[in-house]
Amino acid sequence: MRTAICPGSFDPITLGHLNIIERAAQIFDRVVVCVAANTAKTAPMFTVEEKVEMVRRVIAPYPNVTVEVNSGLLAEFARRYEGSVLIKGLRAASDFDYEFQMDLINKRINPELETMFLTADQRYTFLSSSIVREMAHYGGELSGLVPEEIVAFIEEKAKTRRG
Ligand code: PNS
Repeated sequence: MRTAICPGSFDPITLGHLNIIERAAQIFDRVVVCVAANTAKTAPMFTVEEKVEMVRRVIAPYPNVTVEVNSGLLAEFARRYEGSVLIKGLRAASDFDYEFQMDLINKRINPELETMFLTADQRYTFLSSSIVREMAHYGGELSGLVPEEIVAFIEEKAKTRRG
């Protein structure tokens, strides 16, 4: 069984993420969405539990997609799934610079681990979790940025944070 691992901070999951997950689910037997910590991002909007809850709601229609949490090195996590590959979405050349570096460090840790890249759907090349967080903070329209199933969840969280 070939497993794709789609890792990310998912703070929150966006339609761009979902598009990559959906496409991976058509290519691979199984997709594991890995909610991971990015130490460069120090003040997440959502707790890990909230991120997982949102991912869970969004992937519910896909029978071969599951969600896991990982708080360690991604390349070590990938060892749990024999022959797995990492899937990353690329929106622009600047994404590639970062992902190329990540692939090299991941291979240093786990030389058998490959990363495959899917280019972002052009509808979502502008989209990022940080754009969604900013829109949510200012009460902007979230439809078209995140899956409908989690729009209210994000709006509610933003309202609580604004106080
Ligand atoms: O959505 P993001 O923030 O771009 O995802 C980045 C993430 C979480 C996939 C990356 O930071 C990661 O793999 N973190 C886990 C720790 C790790 O393995 N880091 C690479 C070796 S230093």
